[in-house]
Amino acid sequence: MVASPIRTSSGVELTAAEATPADHDELYEAFAGVVAAGEGYPQAPGPLAVADFDDYWLDHKSLVVVARLEGRLAGSYYLKPNFAGRGAHIANAGYFVVPDVRGQGAGEALVRHSFGEARRLGFDAMQFNLVFESNPARRLYERLGFEVVGRIPEAVDGEAAIVYWRRL
Ligand SMILES: CC(C)(COP(=O)(O)OP(=O)(O)OC[C@H]1O[C@@H](n2cnc3c(N)ncnc32)[C@H](O)[C@@H]1OP(=O)(O)O)[C@@H](O)C(=O)NCCC(=O)NCCS
Repeated sequence: MVASPIRTSSGVELTAAEATPADHDELYEAFAGVVAAGEGYPQAPGPLAVADFDDYWLDHKSLVVVARLEGRLAGSYYLKPNFAGRGAHIANAGYFVVPDVRGQGAGEALVRHSFGEARRLGFDAMQFNLVFESNPARRLYERLGFEVVGRIPEAVDGEAAIVYWRRL
């Protein structure tokens, strides 16, 4: 992808670019913070091994995007096929925004940006497999056209998870 500015609904200007090895340590620190806080992802809260981060966020992905605000890491997303073979036209994505940038539309801007990149990569739908029922991001996903296509009872630590899908 070509590095480009993306403007959030509240007028914050981020730059989005494909992740490079130079982003690795900052991405790891930020995602480890998300995991340590038990936010949104199924990894056990606590120290996150670098190899586990690499596997989960970087390796075997179709695209990893890094968003920056005045040069500082603001957030990231990855895209990958959600299934193999004939199901691989459906993308899966993961997103995070660093805590002090949240609530200004960066999350929404990243999700919207990922739709365009996923289409560019040939995906025609997107699915999230494990959105915690209590995750405030659900409102965002539903506003952006995701349908609930499933609910997994007692998915993580007794909490249900929602499966979301939308056509691209
Ligand atoms: C989900 C996340 C990426 C949203 O980032 P953001 O920059 O705050 O997103 P936005 O500013 O576009 O806000 C999107 C919506 O989420 C809500 N929201 C997001 N994070 C929130 C939080 N921590 N607490 C309360 N509300 C939150 C916003 O109020 C807004 O609600 P609305 O849709 O009703 O207006 C960010 O909170 C995050 O990184 N969370 C931890 C990781 C995670 O859960 N990722 C998604 C896994 S499914």
